[in-house]
Amino acid sequence: MPSPDASDTATMRAVVIDGFGGPERLHERQVPVPSPGRGQVLIGLETAGVGSWDPFEREGGYAEMLGMSPSFPYVLGSEGAGTVAAVGDGVTSRAVGERVFAASFLNPAGGFYAEYVCVDAGLVAPIPAGMSTSQAAVMGGVGMTALRGLRDALELRSGETLLVHGASGAMGHLAVQLGERLGARVLAVASGDDGVALAARAGAELAIDGRAEHVADGVRRFSADGLDAALLTAGGPEADAAVAAVRPGGRAAYPTGVQPEPASTPGVEPQAFNGEPDAELLERFIALIGDRPLDVHIAREFTLDQIPAAHQALRDHHLGKLAITIG
Ligand SMILES: NC(=O)c1ccc[n+]([C@@H]2O[C@H](COP(=O)([O-])OP(=O)(O)OC[C@H]3O[C@@H](n4cnc5c(N)ncnc54)[C@H](OP(=O)(O)O)[C@@H]3O)[C@@H](O)[C@H]2O)c1
Repeated sequence: MPSPDASDTATMRAVVIDGFGGPERLHERQVPVPSPGRGQVLIGLETAGVGSWDPFEREGGYAEMLGMSPSFPYVLGSEGAGTVAAVGDGVTSRAVGERVFAASFLNPAGGFYAEYVCVDAGLVAPIPAGMSTSQAAVMGGVGMTALRGLRDALELRSGETLLVHGASGAMGHLAVQLGERLGARVLAVASGDDGVALAARAGAELAIDGRAEHVADGVRRFSADGLDAALLTAGGPEADAAVAAVRPGGRAAYPTGVQPEPASTPGVEPQAFNGEPDAELLERFIALIGDRPLDVHIAREFTLDQIPAAHQALRDHHLGKLAITIG
């Protein structure tokens, strides 16, 4: 709950930066609780997701790339879940007390590393039945980006063959599940034995270890005709090998941020895309979940004061997502 400060303005715990830089710049501070403007929802957060892109934002990468001059203190974090605490004028889709999750990249009203966040109502949805608050909190950013990639960039169709590279990562393990729900046969290229086990559990028809096996060998075992499509959530030689295994006329795509950018072949030019969550994409994402909860894997949960450690942990091998427990 927000606590009143000396001026009786409601404040909350948040992890802020006072300038761009390394993880040591992240620290806890009492800041004003944001007030929901027209069309916005105030969420009391219990869990926030740690995005693999958060360190780039912390270092000022997006500010430079997009020519923004943000004000400080600056609250990072672009996804989370909790309970609706208040709604702004004009909001009829959400109600106080509802259990919800949301994802909003570079959220104009402040980030999710805090007890409260204000988000446009169109980016807020009920926590799907059968999913925990933590799972819903961390799935928004990567889940919707995976769907954007599979449906809008790759235009994946039922019955097609799909390779997911980085299949045990945050986006990858959800992309395997969404690809299978869209009717594709999925070849997962995961990291390590534990990653292969996760990708198999996620519904891959074949899962291989891309740190120990050659992608080309895996593709030969999987499909005699090459691949219809490849979603690349990591870069490097094995991502390039995945593009090379796509049949002429097939498609390959990667979310902006993947480095090095996957290389083209004479027959296939990988397409970069962004998640760009919006109300319509969120609706499609929820519809695809339906009454079949996504198996969202959380490798580790941190507390608010451990966010610097969470940013460091992103660099180490882990499966699925990292989460911040707030409430
Ligand atoms: N543009 C957008 O809208 C958008 C949105 C979200 C994310 N992104 C970008 O999308 C990318 C993926 O995001 P994420 O959150 O899913 O990151 P992530 O959790 O770090 O996933 C990447 C995965 O790739 C794995 N990997 C790397 N090389 C491999 C190999 N040779 N074989 C098998 N697996 C391999 C890593 O495994 P290890 O455990 O071994 O490291 C890791 O699990 C990032 O570059 C991010 O910046 C872009």
